[in-house]
Amino acid sequence: MQRVVVFTGAGISAESGINTFRDSGGLWEKYDISEVATPEAFARNPKLVIDFYNARRKQVLEAKPNAAHHALVKLENKFKVQIITQNIDDLHERAGSKNVMHLHGEIRKVRSTRFPELVYELDNAEQPYDTVCERGFPLRPHIVWFGEMVPLMELAVEHVASADIFIIIGTSLEVYPAASLIHYAETSVPKFYIDPNARSIEKLPELTIIREQAGTGTPALIEQLLKTE
Ligand code: APR
Repeated sequence: MQRVVVFTGAGISAESGINTFRDSGGLWEKYDISEVATPEAFARNPKLVIDFYNARRKQVLEAKPNAAHHALVKLENKFKVQIITQNIDDLHERAGSKNVMHLHGEIRKVRSTRFPELVYELDNAEQPYDTVCERGFPLRPHIVWFGEMVPLMELAVEHVASADIFIIIGTSLEVYPAASLIHYAETSVPKFYIDPNARSIEKLPELTIIREQAGTGTPALIEQLLKTE
């Protein structure tokens, strides 16, 4: 079975009603990264950071997967599919995708500030301010903040390097190290980039740019791949 690796960003969830970060009206226009999305911010004002992620979680819980998420599930009928998402929402899972890796964490989980392996699912939208892990340390959102390592990066690189087909959807490719992933795909591998504002990418051979919204561009591409392979 051929392997398809799909690298997604906020754009794939935009049509589900979840804000992107860098588009006009995006989250980083309304919030200051240094106040809500860094370890220093959490140390300084944990309540503000928890409030910020509680609001993100509420939005995610109200959202539903869209045509792009659903189309990616169909791809599994014919290919071995690995999704690598920068998104913290769970819309790929709720659509039914089996193999989903979250590079930047997961909004519906919290973890111990002292023992990162102690990860807990939240039952509802709100992370309370005062809960602790089973070893007594405060909990934090299970998010990779700016300035933190991306623990799954190495595994993600391995997946991309072993892809037979590589698809990029809805990401500005501005945040590193995640954005560097695209350069690990083999030269001869067909690559597709679906994003209405996709910029051309230098030194990425076999790249087809599809300047469309994810909700229309993704089902169309997937139909084509299911037919030809
Ligand atoms: N369909 C496809 N793409 C879309 C759509 C849509 N309907 N709407 C917007 N986009 C595209 C934009 O053109 C843009 O290129 O989605 C992209 C969103 O870019 P960003 O807001 O920068 O989001 P992303 O690339 O996922 O950001 C990476 O930055 O702040 C961090 O941790 C956060 O994981 C995130 C990372």
